[in-house]
Amino acid sequence: MILLTNIKQLLQIRDMSITKVSGSEMAELPMIPDAWLLIDGEEIAAFGNMSELPDHENAQIIDCSGKVVLPAWCDSHTHIVYAGDRTQEFVDRINGLTYEEIANRGGGILNSAKKLNETSEDDLYEQSKKRLEEVMSQGSGAVEIKSGYGLTVEGELKMLRVIKRLKQNYPTAIKSTFLGAHAFPTEYKTDHSAYIDLTVNEMLPKIAQEELADYIDAFCETGYFSVEETERIMEAGLQYGLQAKIHVNQFTAIDGIAACVKHKALSVDHLEIVTEADIEALKNSQTMPVALPSCSYFISIPYTPARQMLNAGLPLALASDFNPGTTPSGNMNFVVATACIKMKMTPEEAINAATINGAYAMGLSASHGSITVGKKANLIITKPITSFYEIPYRFGSDLIESVILNGKSIA
Ligand code: NIG
Ligand code: FE
Repeated sequence: MILLTNIKQLLQIRDMSITKVSGSEMAELPMIPDAWLLIDGEEIAAFGNMSELPDHENAQIIDCSGKVVLPAWCDSHTHIVYAGDRTQEFVDRINGLTYEEIANRGGGILNSAKKLNETSEDDLYEQSKKRLEEVMSQGSGAVEIKSGYGLTVEGELKMLRVIKRLKQNYPTAIKSTFLGAHAFPTEYKTDHSAYIDLTVNEMLPKIAQEELADYIDAFCETGYFSVEETERIMEAGLQYGLQAKIHVNQFTAIDGIAACVKHKALSVDHLEIVTEADIEALKNSQTMPVALPSCSYFISIPYTPARQMLNAGLPLALASDFNPGTTPSGNMNFVVATACIKMKMTPEEAINAATINGAYAMGLSASHGSITVGKKANLIITKPITSFYEIPYRFGSDLIESVILNGKSIA
């Protein structure tokens, strides 16, 4: 047993019945000032105010005087498994090329796919685990990881097997998403249906047989997968029990969100360009909108209109999108700060979006995302700070003192 004492603010206290928060509810971040929290094994066993500190003879004590404790970040959208990097494209963009121009020259996703197919599974695992360890130290306690840089049967399976090994070897909760429909390989540029046949008829059955994926994704975007093509992917996924989490509305609004809601997608992600019709489609649905502000920051595209969406009563989750092309960072502290600074979310809203709503967006709200008895003891302990407002305010500082995952402090 571990007992955290004298916690300045214990954030995100929720009942097990709360699986996500929406609209004006997001302005509230329930907390206990001057708190204690008891960890038993991997789980949160109890918590309360210091005035009612229980008998603690057998517990290891961690004094949290001056420190804030909150649930570890739930990063529901990453591409952590990739080979090499795309630093040259970064410099090309500085020199004036756009993301689209680079992709049209064979850069972008196809550049990463070429590198990945030339990399062994063991090498890919070694490269990817370093990134996972980095985001764990930055406070991520649950992450979704996508395939999508293989775009061949072998390449996609290789990525998903690496994700499976990460799942087995790390205490971070990991959900795995099959993103075979990330881009059309050059040889399928003029025959889209043949590539979709390959993903649906060859990749999916193998993935299902090896139980390599929890969700299915597609890049629904002008120049990538059309709404109809995305619907075909979602329907095929559902036949194998894989709910959809879709990349949509990154550069253009093409009515993909309504199609995702219709197919009961768990989440729709990116949403840099959002119309009134998209907002209407999301109302009263079970689909979580997910914003990725580090991507907007890195490739200089609009930020998701969070205020408009929250004012319409929608929920919102925040995730990193950690990937080699548009977001080479998985730092959720930066994501939360950027959501406050650039999307005008309050610290309460941003922390809700990066914890409880992030957990929902990867099907983990029964075990992650809040301080709840019976949930995993996945915690961030900050350095001494005046209040949790400092987390986004001091956007460039490392304010994390330690991270506890499944009840154990990570090095
Ligand atoms: O989420 N938009 C699609 N996929 C990734 C980026 C892919 C890449 O450039 O490697 C994203 O931003
Ligand atoms: Fe992405």
